[in-house]
Amino acid sequence: MAKTNDGWGSRIGLILAMAGNAVGLGNFLRFPVQAIQNGGGTFIIPYFVSFLVMGIPLLWIEWSMGRFGGVRGFHSTPFIVGSMGKKRMWKYVGTFAIFTNLGIISYYTYIESWTLSYTLKSIFQSFHGMNIHQVEAAFDTYAGVHGNLTDNKVDINVPGWGLLAFFVTLAVNIYILSKGLSAGIEKVAKFAMPLLVLFGVFLAIRGITLGHTGMPNCATCNSQSGLDFLWNPDFSSLANPKIWLAAAGQIFFTLSVGMGTIHCYAAYLKKNDDVALNAMSAGWMNEFVEIVLGASIVIPIAVGYMGLDWVKENAGFMMAFKTMPYLFNQWGVVLATLSGVAWFGLLFFAGITSSLAMGTPFIGFVEDEFGWSRKKGALVLGVLIMILALPTIFFFEYGVFDEYDYWTGTVALVVFALLEVILFSWIFGIKKGWREITQGSDIKIPNFYKFIIKWVTPIFILVIFVTALIKPLHGELSDWQLAFHQLFTQGTWPWANDSIIAQIFHLNQKIVYFKHGVPTGMFFKDMARLLLLSTFLLLSYFTHVADKKRKASTKTIES
Ligand code: PHE
Repeated sequence: MAKTNDGWGSRIGLILAMAGNAVGLGNFLRFPVQAIQNGGGTFIIPYFVSFLVMGIPLLWIEWSMGRFGGVRGFHSTPFIVGSMGKKRMWKYVGTFAIFTNLGIISYYTYIESWTLSYTLKSIFQSFHGMNIHQVEAAFDTYAGVHGNLTDNKVDINVPGWGLLAFFVTLAVNIYILSKGLSAGIEKVAKFAMPLLVLFGVFLAIRGITLGHTGMPNCATCNSQSGLDFLWNPDFSSLANPKIWLAAAGQIFFTLSVGMGTIHCYAAYLKKNDDVALNAMSAGWMNEFVEIVLGASIVIPIAVGYMGLDWVKENAGFMMAFKTMPYLFNQWGVVLATLSGVAWFGLLFFAGITSSLAMGTPFIGFVEDEFGWSRKKGALVLGVLIMILALPTIFFFEYGVFDEYDYWTGTVALVVFALLEVILFSWIFGIKKGWREITQGSDIKIPNFYKFIIKWVTPIFILVIFVTALIKPLHGELSDWQLAFHQLFTQGTWPWANDSIIAQIFHLNQKIVYFKHGVPTGMFFKDMARLLLLSTFLLLSYFTHVADKKRKASTKTIES
């Protein structure tokens, strides 16, 4: 087996790389939208509770699992996870994590490429003088969205420019990955993270101080009401399962937990390197960027110009591209250019430090198990990403992108997290686990976290999983009550479209693959699933081969 001589250059480099892994498009695009769609202040309490009882424990678990595996020579999730549990099954659970990263990185690099293009467009002032409709239309043209799916044909009209940006973004990622940890990822993080914060602070100051000056004659346009909406906590949300699901989902995505990415970065730590404080530093840095910067840009600025009602109605991650450039235009050419560069540049840096992290599990796997060089691993990864990403690009509007996001960016994380926490707290055992977390630690973790990690975190994730699995229509507390009533009186269950069960079996939908000979949305959905499933099976096959190879080589050593 190849011995890797890669590693982190410095502690600050490691923390910045880990923070870069966590801080991503999720902080600036996903968080504000989730918060708005889930009632603003009502979202915040479940969000913090999820952070404390699930996010922090998972950070500690994943960092220490990674170090545990790394010390034993494993740098990829199948064998890191496999080193903690004896059963063969755990290796395939670990394989699931490589799969998740591949799935997410494929659609993620595509959005990352938008941010690159939009940085350039801002530099060249392409939005100058455009009204909001023109800015929106420019985005639709760019992403090949035509909004007319009733046509009798499948229309693919992604412009070459969009494709080129994607290939450039991918190539930059692959190049940096091929340089390795300290000479590639760490260097980028040390440069990108401070710059990102700087850009973020600049925009957040605009967001916070804008007040009603943007549209003085519009009574409801006041950035302050955007901030108030986000920050007025509402305790009644504690009883709303729908908001809990959204909040926990955001914690998963933003911290990059439940994905195996952290394990692979942490696998390059040494036996007595601190885990507890490092994990906290990176985790809190992510929270700072998310709730201070992420919450103070898009929402308040948009509310400052368009009013809260408009924002509530139009909230979506596309707002970053469809609305922001128009709003920046209101600040005059110079500030508009600067803000555009700051905003899209920030998104690009946030994105790339995350996509680099998502590339690591695959590369670690082929380096360790098949003796490939980093370069070869990075190149093959690039090809795999391309195969998986092209359908999301060409058939973006047909739902392929959303399908990837649902399975790999939403469901997979919960499944993996549930399994790993069971492995860590119950199979490996909390006693040994606690020793792993506290070994070499530079802080004293309060003892009650032992209890939380053993009981609260697994039960919390289990409840989240079951809730997502069987969520009834609309998903509010009263809908659950009605659903149980219906179950007991009529023996049926009103599945929500986005419940995992309804998704798997296409409940509530007619299964039609072709209409007048033209493939339907369902067709694209299922093709996307087939592609994802094949990817997982392929990775599992390689895990199987690697496992056999390892067994054969230990046998030869023994004899
Ligand atoms: N945490 C990143 C974000 O907030 C996303 C990410 C997912 C990063 C998976 C690494 C792995 O955007």
